[in-house]
Amino acid sequence: MRDSHNNTGFSTRAIHHGYDPLSHGGALVPPVYQTATYAFPTVEYGAACFAGEEPGHFYSRISNPTLALLEQRMASLEGGEAGLALASGMGAITSTIWTLLRPGDELIVGRTLYGCTFAFLHHGIGEFGVKIRHVDLNDAKALKAAINGKTRMIYFETPANPNMQLVDIAAVAEAVRGHDVHVVVDNTYCTPYLQRPLELGADLVVHSATKYLSGHGDITAGLVIGRKALVDRIRLEGLKDMTGAVLSPHDAALLMRGIKTLALRMDRHCANALQVAEFLARQPQVELIHYPGLPSFAQYEVAQRQMRLPGGMIGFELKGGIEAGRRFMNALQLFARAVSLGDAESLAQHPASMTHSSYTPQERAHHGISEGLVRLSVGLEDVEDLLADVEQALQACS
Ligand SMILES: Cc1ncc(COP(=O)(O)O)c(C=O)c1O
Repeated sequence: MRDSHNNTGFSTRAIHHGYDPLSHGGALVPPVYQTATYAFPTVEYGAACFAGEEPGHFYSRISNPTLALLEQRMASLEGGEAGLALASGMGAITSTIWTLLRPGDELIVGRTLYGCTFAFLHHGIGEFGVKIRHVDLNDAKALKAAINGKTRMIYFETPANPNMQLVDIAAVAEAVRGHDVHVVVDNTYCTPYLQRPLELGADLVVHSATKYLSGHGDITAGLVIGRKALVDRIRLEGLKDMTGAVLSPHDAALLMRGIKTLALRMDRHCANALQVAEFLARQPQVELIHYPGLPSFAQYEVAQRQMRLPGGMIGFELKGGIEAGRRFMNALQLFARAVSLGDAESLAQHPASMTHSSYTPQERAHHGISEGLVRLSVGLEDVEDLLADVEQALQACS
């Protein structure tokens, strides 16, 4: 029997956890349950499912066997009790926040967030009576001062999209100990292969599984992982009744295929990104570079402590600001000019006019997103070709 792999290594669980081919007619790859609804043997059994007294599936907006396997596997990889799969990262984030916050509650968030998360907080939940407070979460005094009797959640990304600022997860978890506050970490940039927030004291992890977890840029998906009681609430309130952001079984199968090679891919993303970052750091045209694997990175020590490897994302600015950055991006030949991240293909984008255009220029300045920042998602190509592309683009723009 191969249905339990809790004591095996990360990649073994990414490939096998929760599935026994011999219980499925020998099918090595899990079947895709492409169904919206489920037949009940009796009306009484159906009623018991609805009442939560029987564990069966009864409608695919709530649960589906293909998604259940993905959820179990990701819970195992993140070190959590339970998982929930959703249609996108924003589906995961909004379902979580709508479920756990009520009018009058306060939400403390990190200084810099992905543009649509920022927009949801300020133009979505923030307009329904939840107070949003941005705090420098690495400032323990400021964090303690911001927590009060109304605070119900601390939410952050580490590294933050797009400026790569880190948050010390264990320090935040320690600061809220004893308070009725959930610590929620967006672990999209790292994946559980590089960083496991639950082991550092967080209550929930959310993901855009559209990125590294799927790894091939062909689906959108999201995940929430944490204690079963919390995840069940998000399933039955946020997903079922509030957002309906349900993942299709076919996309769940593609996501599980991607997760099988996660460790291999992340090793290569990180190795390639380190070489690109080191190359950029040596170039006279480069004004600033944000990459957690460079000893010059201000939070290098935090990265060493909580990340297995520094990741595949780089933020940098050229001398000459945004005009030089635009010329650089337009000169790239192998890197695609595209948003999203974590794909096999290397991508370059301009946060101020793309992923973070939901901030006003004043908000970007306030939240540490400079207008000239260029964001690279370093892919899986041969690193010599990536370096050659960056080099020719730098020459073309200077
Ligand atoms: C850090 C982070 N969180 C969440 C999201 C939202 O994910 P999705 O696009 O899958 O909805 C993104 C998307 O870029 C992201 O970068």
